[in-house]
Amino acid sequence: MQSGAADALAVVHEHILVCTDCPLHLRRIQAVPGTGPAGARIMAVGEGPGETEDRLGRPFVGAAGNVLTKLLESIGLRREDIYITNVVKCRPPGNRDPEPAEMEACSHFLDAQIEIIRPDVILILGRHALARLLPGAGGISGLHGRRVVRGDRLYVPLYHPAAALYQGSLMRTLEDDMGKVRGYLDEAEARRRQPAQVAAPVRDAPASAPVVPPSLAEPLLRLVSPEPDEPALRLGSPDPVEPAPPEPPGRDQLSLF
Ligand code: URA
Repeated sequence: MQSGAADALAVVHEHILVCTDCPLHLRRIQAVPGTGPAGARIMAVGEGPGETEDRLGRPFVGAAGNVLTKLLESIGLRREDIYITNVVKCRPPGNRDPEPAEMEACSHFLDAQIEIIRPDVILILGRHALARLLPGAGGISGLHGRRVVRGDRLYVPLYHPAAALYQGSLMRTLEDDMGKVRGYLDEAEARRRQPAQVAAPVRDAPASAPVVPPSLAEPLLRLVSPEPDEPALRLGSPDPVEPAPPEPPGRDQLSLF
């Protein structure tokens, strides 16, 4: 790829670095636009920079980042091949949850990043990213590890890597879900190699999206492309950004679940 996409992404990054659209800019050391190639086939979206990210200007470089890197490596992916970013690009003070107005103000940056990169799959890391990218779809506890199709995009919600740091049992769940991601990527790859063998693809869908007969398109939240054990969900058009649904447990790191 495509110096065009790389150039466009660089412009978005420049805008993020000088953004003053919400109060988060007042207390940041620096904004954290994202890292990874403009041609990445996989994108990972977290919640927002933490203390280390604010200092270093790169996403997922603290403890949660180590978990993410290991999870990616566990399925043969190299971190540097993935485009990694967050819903909000500046650190919420004290690592508090990003507020709806802050997510809304930052929204166009994430939209632009997705539009430029057009990844085969977007890994949604935690409930805030889930609420931002798939509003109204449901909670992370019901959707983690599943493929979700909305519009022309394919998403896989996952528990936030920080969750595994605070609740050890979730590490196993994350590892299992990452194993499924490997399967989804392999299927996408196989589909790309055999484009002519399936019925007409969803209009404008990426090569990796499940193929849906037109008669099955709609309604909201319907199973498409049945797979032996992990059917994809198809969702209706995105709604405006809404706050993350209240889910247990309480504050701080635990709220990343
Ligand atoms: N680091 C990030 O960049 N994002 C998160 O959501 C958590 C840690």
